[in-house]
Amino acid sequence: MSLGYQSPRRRRAGDMTWGIIASMLFASFGFGGTFSYERSEKLCFPDDFIFGVATAAYQIEGAWNTSGKGESIWDRYTHERPDRIFDHHNGDVAADSYHLFRQDVRMLEYLGVQHYRFSISWPRTLPSGLSNEINEDGIRYYMELLDELNSHGISPIVTMYHWDLPQALQDLGGWTNPIIAEYFVDYARVLFDHFGDKVNVWLTFNEPLSFCHDGYGGLDAPGAHSSGFEDYLCAHNVLRAHGMVYRLYMDQYKDKIKSVGITLDFSWLEPATTSDADQKAAETARQFYFGWFAHPIFSKTGDYPPIMRERVDTISKRQHFTRSRLPSFTPEEVEMIRGSSDFLGLNHYTTYLIAKNKGKISLTPSFEADMGGIVSQKKEWPKSNSTWLKVVPWGFRKSLNWVRLAYDNPTVFITENGMSLERGLKDSRRINYLDGYLKALLTAMTKDNCRVVGYTYWSLMDNFEWTRGFSERFGLYEVDYDSPNKVRTARSSAEYFKQLAQTRCIPTWNYTV
Ligand SMILES: *[C@@H]1O[C@H](CO)[C@@H](O)[C@H](O)[C@H]1NC(C)=O
Ligand SMILES: *[C@@H]1O[C@H](CO)[C@@H](O)[C@H](O)[C@H]1NC(C)=O
Repeated sequence: MSLGYQSPRRRRAGDMTWGIIASMLFASFGFGGTFSYERSEKLCFPDDFIFGVATAAYQIEGAWNTSGKGESIWDRYTHERPDRIFDHHNGDVAADSYHLFRQDVRMLEYLGVQHYRFSISWPRTLPSGLSNEINEDGIRYYMELLDELNSHGISPIVTMYHWDLPQALQDLGGWTNPIIAEYFVDYARVLFDHFGDKVNVWLTFNEPLSFCHDGYGGLDAPGAHSSGFEDYLCAHNVLRAHGMVYRLYMDQYKDKIKSVGITLDFSWLEPATTSDADQKAAETARQFYFGWFAHPIFSKTGDYPPIMRERVDTISKRQHFTRSRLPSFTPEEVEMIRGSSDFLGLNHYTTYLIAKNKGKISLTPSFEADMGGIVSQKKEWPKSNSTWLKVVPWGFRKSLNWVRLAYDNPTVFITENGMSLERGLKDSRRINYLDGYLKALLTAMTKDNCRVVGYTYWSLMDNFEWTRGFSERFGLYEVDYDSPNKVRTARSSAEYFKQLAQTRCIPTWNYTV
């Protein structure tokens, strides 16, 4: 498998044991849920399939100004603009994983997961963003976390960049300044040199769609609110930076590191009606929201999707720009970026409907106008605690199949999937979400032949959910933010996930109130 590490084999002799453990769990559990297991092949994942959970540095670590850490764009943004955060909170302390990471690893051990996906904070390791000054305390922190994971047999999967840009680099324009690609390569080299022996699987970026479209095009940090312009510049430099780091790894770290990939988010985009216009609009929207990043890396031809090139060029001209708002790669850059990923890390949560926008194109640039679709969701779709996240399991299967057909069935690793709910330990709705999405995933693998090698739940525990603050909780573990030591408590879904990770079979779950 191209992810490049051995996953523990399923214990064949343990099949009986699980039933016993399950009944013991039920006895001591007392939440009114029961689990049972059917060793029906159709509900089991392959032996080498791996299960894990994910977090990200800014969302859990806290210790924002401790021991030499530099300021990040989220530190600056939440401090200067608390009005832009739903509950006016910030990640200064968050789940305090900087101090409590050993507890986190104990939770991972309890869940029995094969991997833990976390991110390294760029400003904690390089306070100004540049590699002339390395913060030894940052190196020590991640080294201790990696050693702790290693001693528990849990494989780390490490994201280099999960939105927390050093503020000093944002002061130079952040991802809109082309020089940042060189700085990102310097940062990656520091990570490979320090942690390359301990981390086999690296992800360069998490969800560039979110941090470019929402951060430079919208009102997430840094809050540039420059849609159809700065978001394109951001994406362009992120793709260059990604390709450059992949080439660095291939040229200089191939013996040390097993694989390097990228995580892209893909919500399924379903035509609002069966009309040709809406079908076409939905496909165009997929190319804008996902192909924007995936096409340059995973397609045979490389570069931006042709439909995106054509639409942004045409609309820019009509808006009297002298050049397209979508930048162009040089032929060398197209080649450098094409094929620059050993696997596709995929984050999938929900589905939207796309209808053709029949209105006139405005003179004000925007990504949405360039894309040309109107985005909505069905009222009947079950809700979560996030306005954008509706429960639509079939969209997962469709996304995986679209990826299979568009990019010649690449190796896919699910790096995030999950559901937000309000506070509470009895999260049967989260278990229903998992049940539906896991079945859709398994169907995509067994019936449709999609090549998926692992699944990662977002998130291990509740955390700081960007502009939604602490209001939206995605955790298998609940975090009590009011307690001084940020007490973590397993939810019902943690018990469900434990069974899943340890048996690789979807637990049959009966909930009785
Ligand atoms: C760190 O930030 C906290 C607020 O979160 C503040 O009280 C403290 O003085 C700061 N410490 C340093 C060393 O700047
Ligand atoms: C999510 O939960 C919080 C806290 O209970 C609540 O204030 C908020 O309105 C909820 N959001 C949605 C979209 O349901």
